[in-house]
Amino acid sequence: MTMAPETTAGPVLVLLGGTGDLARRMLLPSLFHLEIDALLPPNLRLIGVARDGQSPEQYRAMVRAAIAARETLSDAVWERFNARIDYYSGDVTKPEGAVKLAAQVGPFSELVIYFSVSPSLYAAACASLAAAGLITQTTRLVLEKPIGRDLESSMALNRAVAAVASEEQIFRIDHYLGKETVQNLIALRFANIAFEPLWTNHTIDHVQITVAETEGVGSRWPYYNDYGALRDMLQNHMIQLLCLIAMEPPADLDPDAVRQEKVKVLKALRPMSRTSVGQEVVLGQYAQGIVDGKSVESYLTEVGKPTNTETFIALRCFIDNWRWAGTPFFLRTGKRMPERRTQIVIQFRPLPHSIFSPEANEDMVANRLVIDLQPQEDISLLLMNQKPGLGQDGMRLQSMPLSLSLAKAYSGHDGRRRIAYERLLLDIFRGDRTLFVHRNEVEEAWRWVDGVAAAWGEAGLKPKTYAAGSLGPAGVHALIERSGHQWHD
Ligand code: NDP
Ligand code: BG6
Repeated sequence: MTMAPETTAGPVLVLLGGTGDLARRMLLPSLFHLEIDALLPPNLRLIGVARDGQSPEQYRAMVRAAIAARETLSDAVWERFNARIDYYSGDVTKPEGAVKLAAQVGPFSELVIYFSVSPSLYAAACASLAAAGLITQTTRLVLEKPIGRDLESSMALNRAVAAVASEEQIFRIDHYLGKETVQNLIALRFANIAFEPLWTNHTIDHVQITVAETEGVGSRWPYYNDYGALRDMLQNHMIQLLCLIAMEPPADLDPDAVRQEKVKVLKALRPMSRTSVGQEVVLGQYAQGIVDGKSVESYLTEVGKPTNTETFIALRCFIDNWRWAGTPFFLRTGKRMPERRTQIVIQFRPLPHSIFSPEANEDMVANRLVIDLQPQEDISLLLMNQKPGLGQDGMRLQSMPLSLSLAKAYSGHDGRRRIAYERLLLDIFRGDRTLFVHRNEVEEAWRWVDGVAAAWGEAGLKPKTYAAGSLGPAGVHALIERSGHQWHD
């Protein structure tokens, strides 16, 4: 039996776009998992919002179906979760829609408004929700990507939100920051003294960050075609990973301390020019091909009209500061790659001098730290050691990956992998902004990305096609080989 939602002044989560794709696939299942783990704030009410006129009963059934699509529901937990859910149908960008929502929200002790709607609605929704009294000095606003399409539009969006709330109230989501291994990267760097002295251009030869996806763009093309791989993936998720690898140790994990260090990295990214961009950037667009044994169509066919949007980008960039001068960072991301893989490779330099025999030197491989985020989560350090046995030809060597991960620690209550949004939602309820993106980070990242896009526009760079299921267009290997390296595939 469905219980009436609580109406006393407890905490409330308003989920704008509560029927959308993100809500159904990620946010509602994540909230449900927090319910299973008894981590939701006591008495939390969840109000889903969209304009489709359905009843709260219908909405609860939709939520149940969305969660059941992922897992088997326990009735007891579902009853607890169900009792929290309410639904409001109306247009929150209109003053009267926001006023009616405020009436339905009623009294609250704390309010979180999650904007899981198109960013084109953020400004109007903020204005009407503030006028309706829903954005007070303590309301937390959670913003999904993309925050703009370039520096100018991101500044306009940030200004519109800043008109109704202070930066401390704003939680900009980059769901990569909620992934367990990304947090483990922070632990690895700053909870161990062993790596810090090595974490410089003296010992690190280069860094590779790869985000490969097997999926195509499909029905998302109207959004994607306007963004492409640079703006959809590199500007946010990949640059956040780059910042966490490259930043100086912050004084503590205070959000502002971390943000300041990330912003310093962004400011030190070397701009690209019309003359350098052809050597530093490779763009691709997938053609028909085979992925996971199935024939898939080209991006052009999905879009149905000529387009120069890149579904693949690889680039080499430099961070011009003392720590990283001369150490290249290679970033690549693409749709319709042969396998799903998100990986960071820290490639250390070869030994300055080897004391071993020529035969043993043939076995020698430079140390490498590999941080796998997807599909497996693992951190492994490639070390050299002695090949065991009674060989007659002197000491021989072998490389051995040493796994630093406790795979089990990455899983939730039932051994499953946590959804990145679980961590982020929990931190929003706790008011901890460490894993969220500050306005300055977004804007500095856009400043650099705008420069890259402008440079390739001036140079007339166009994406080259690659067969779906391949590792990208011709030129992707040359990009890294020019620096004397190879992709870690
Ligand atoms: P959808 O288009 O699937 O959902 C949009 C939701 O917003 C629907 O519930 C829609 O319902 C509601 N909505 C639209 N206009 C209004 C309005 N004026 N007032 C109230 N509700 C409204 O989008 P997604 O779920 O895919 O994306 C949501 C956000 O998350 C976007 O910012 C997107 O960029 C971001 N994002 C999404 C990802 C994903 O995987 N889907 C990944 C990363 C970010 P109705 O039309 O009935 O009003
Ligand atoms: C989103 C991008 O931000 O991240 C998508 O818009 C991409 O294009 C997705 O597919 C990748 O996220 P994950 O967690 O599956 O690597």
